Amino acid sequence: MEDQAEKLREIVRNKSAAQSASTQSVGSSTQSVQTGAHLQNGTPSKREGKRTRIITVASGKGGVGKTNMSVNMAISYARMGKKVVVMDVDLGLSNVNILLNAIPKYNLLHVIRKQKTMKEILVDTPYGISFIGGASGFSEIANMAQEERQNFINEMQTLASFDVIILDTGAGVSDNVIDFTAPADDVVIVTNNEPTAITDAYGIIKIIATKIDNAEMGINLIVNRVSSAAEAGKVADKLIKVVQQFLNVKLEYLGFVYEDDSVVQAVVKQKPFTVEAPRCKASQCVGHIVGRLEKTEVRTAGFGGLFKRMFGVQV
Ligand SMILES: Nc1ncnc2c1ncn2[C@@H]1O[C@H](COP(=O)(O)OP(=O)(O)OP(=O)(O)O)[C@@H](O)[C@H]1O
Ligand SMILES: [Mg+2]
Repeated sequence: MEDQAEKLREIVRNKSAAQSASTQSVGSSTQSVQTGAHLQNGTPSKREGKRTRIITVASGKGGVGKTNMSVNMAISYARMGKKVVVMDVDLGLSNVNILLNAIPKYNLLHVIRKQKTMKEILVDTPYGISFIGGASGFSEIANMAQEERQNFINEMQTLASFDVIILDTGAGVSDNVIDFTAPADDVVIVTNNEPTAITDAYGIIKIIATKIDNAEMGINLIVNRVSSAAEAGKVADKLIKVVQQFLNVKLEYLGFVYEDDSVVQAVVKQKPFTVEAPRCKASQCVGHIVGRLEKTEVRTAGFGGLFKRMFGVQV
């Protein structure tokens, strides 16, 4: 009985945290990285009856394009009028800040240590998206006491005014990656056509399917750096089949991104490729991917409940 009462209290607490967050203005408390920062097409959308979609971007192998996908998907979403935040939850090699050329003064570590609130560490970018910086030393998450975890979850819930939260993870299957995948409506697995990347993609899907108790979560695939749709289609077919056969998991193919020099050039300039080269092949592909993701149904329960899953699973 007591258990149930506590659960109910938690639901009420979460609900009110989410409600108070959605009534506050995010912009007023954000850090601004560059002067003249403005929302390009990112006028915050009205959230009439809508809820926040949490998308976690992950991969088995490193360097396959997660951060580029996270940031550029976020920009594509913003261009659809959505209010979007990208959160860098990479352990050690945080690199969203490099891609955005933004070094936030405060990051998630300050929230974990209760020195800052989530809203205080939000950074505006000139690209119509907000950004939350990650930190090495993120292993502190694993060592958080119950009360600190609850505080962190409450802080995550203050992001309820966003339409989309994209979590950019590090490669592989650390506890952190699992913790930040657990609350997702959708996980997006990125791979390229290399056998090692494909095998590792299978590996992370297996871990997600076995460690995370969320039958409703969409498990999606992007095949990056290909020279043709057919090449990507073969990779996707292969993975979809083995994942279905051995894990009984339905893997949704979101699409592919061409190997494109514009991506490399944009990275060198520390600008997102969808901004630097909005009409390049890779930008068009990302637009299709986001369109596809938007069409897929969100099946998971309300935002408030999702973050509770963060620490509910341990590897
Ligand atoms: N479609 C593409 N075309 C050409 N180059 C690409 C493409 N996607 C990614 N790259 C190259 O791969 C590099 C790594 O990409 P990115 O940093 O997004 O990978 P990651 O998966 O986030 O890496 P990590 O695992 O280290 O976090 C980029 O800097 C870029 O040079
Ligand atoms: Mg990365």
